[in-house]
Parts: sequence; structure tokens; C-alpha cells
Amino acid sequence: MLTLNANEFARLDRFERIAALGMASMHPGGLAATRKLIQWAGIAPGTRVLDLGCGVGQTSCLLAKRYAAEVTGLDKSARMVARATERARQSASPAAFVEGDAYAMPFEPERFDVVFAESVTLFLDRAKVLAECFRVMAPGGLIADVVMTCHEPVPTDVLDGLERLEGVRMHPMSPEQWLAAYHDAGFEVVRSEFKASISDGATLWSFFQDNGWDGLKFLIRFGRLWLTEPAVRAYGRELTAFWLPNKHRFGFGLILAKRP
Ligand SMILES: C[S@@+](CC[C@H](N)C(=O)[O-])C[C@H]1O[C@@H](n2cnc3c(N)ncnc32)[C@H](O)[C@@H]1O
Repeated sequence: MLTLNANEFARLDRFERIAALGMASMHPGGLAATRKLIQWAGIAPGTRVLDLGCGVGQTSCLLAKRYAAEVTGLDKSARMVARATERARQSASPAAFVEGDAYAMPFEPERFDVVFAESVTLFLDRAKVLAECFRVMAPGGLIADVVMTCHEPVPTDVLDGLERLEGVRMHPMSPEQWLAAYHDAGFEVVRSEFKASISDGATLWSFFQDNGWDGLKFLIRFGRLWLTEPAVRAYGRELTAFWLPNKHRFGFGLILAKRP
């Protein structure tokens, strides 16, 4: 967990900060969405799964331990890969993790049966990342994506605010645009489900279900750091200042698509 001082914290990217504070699940819909995608994708023992943008490895560890899938988690952040590897060790999960870029993955073509991409394609160039996913998926393979959606075009000043927060320029898309992006990349959408609110299903109960004891530790730790560390306080304020007035603009969706 957090063994960083305020300067180190300030140097982390947004997801590394959340991970440093102890959060395990970093996608809309949380574990409930993950479980739904696992069921949709029919994960069985031996299914070769890539967890793209695996973060701290919660989904990878679950898939490898509970479903006996053969899981590789990939993330561009060395810190995330280290945290995910430690999570796998602590939970005795056989998931493996590698550092790498979603645009140029260190895998041979057709290596995986299923790609999980929870809250990652939405930050990237859709055509490029979907083409790379297509390349590493076996014919007939599936991609299970958790995406953020918008209800109407997002004003430029809001996109600027989101960029300051996320560190990347985002191009939020409507559900129809997401389905079209998958179609254009050569996939066949098998199933999809969209929610109007980005926080649909996010309750205190689901927070503790998703994060377990780490959730409680996270709240205590965040509260303590809020009081003592200006960098953490500033970050918390930035998050609230952006999301409170803009939350209504965004929803999320689950997409399961097949490589023909
Ligand atoms: C919102 S977090 C999601 C983490 C995890 N999938 C989850 O749902 O908890 C996005 C993750 O994608 C990773 N990421 C962002 N851009 C990437 C890229 N180009 N290649 C690989 N990973 C990337 C980030 O480091 C981060 O861990």
C-alpha cells in the first residue's frame, strides 16, 4: 500500500495515485460488471485471457484463481505491474503480469481466446487499440470491454478539464459510436448493455464488495492523508470539482465483441 511521501504521490499518474491509496477496482460498474462479462464470455478452465490495462490485477487474479483461466495482465505502468504481481502472490493466484503498451503488445498474433479491456480503450485511440486487440485474438475470440459513454457531444472546456484530470485527451463516445467503432475494426458485437449514469450500481455496499477490507483501509488512509498531505487534498478537490458538475454527462457500457 502507500509508502510514498507527498512529492512522490504528486508525480504519479491518476491511476497510480488511486492504486497507491489502495483501490483495487478502477472501472465503472465495479466487480458486478466484471462478473457479468466473465459470464457473457463463458470463461472456462484453460481459457487464454489477456487483461489489457490490468491495473492492480483484481480481474486477472479472479479469472486465474476462481475460473482457472490462463491469464496474462498487461499494463504500461511498471508500478501497476508490480502491484498486480504482489496481489497475485498474496492471493496465490497464478495470473502473470507484463509491462507493455496496448498499441504494440509483446505477444504473437492470435495468442488469446478472450481480451478483457476494463476501462482502458476509452483512454486510447480506438481504431489503433482495437486493431491491436484483433491481432492478438484468435479467430472466434472475444473482447469484453467496459467503456465510458456520453449522452451528447461534450463541450470543449469540459474535455479540457477531463484532460487536466486524466493526463490524456479523451474523446467520449455515445453507445452508438462505440458499437460503430467495434464494427469498423472488424468485430461482430455479440452483446452490449449501456447505463445512463457513470455511477449506476455504485453504492457504499458495492464499494466494500469490490474492495473488501482494502476499501475500509482506503477510506481511513484517504481521510488521514486528506488531513495531513496537501497533495492528496488538492487531488481530492480536483476530482470533486470536475465530477460533481459533470457527472450527468457520462454513462458507461459493457460490450462483448467477437473476432470473426
Ligand atoms: C482505469 S485503469 C483500469 C485498471 C483495471 N482494468 C481496472 O478496471 O481496475 C486504466 C489502466 O490502463 C493502463 N493503461 C493506460 N494506457 C495504457 C496503454 N497504452 N497500454 C497499456 N496500459 C495502459 C493504466 O496504466 C491503468 O492501469
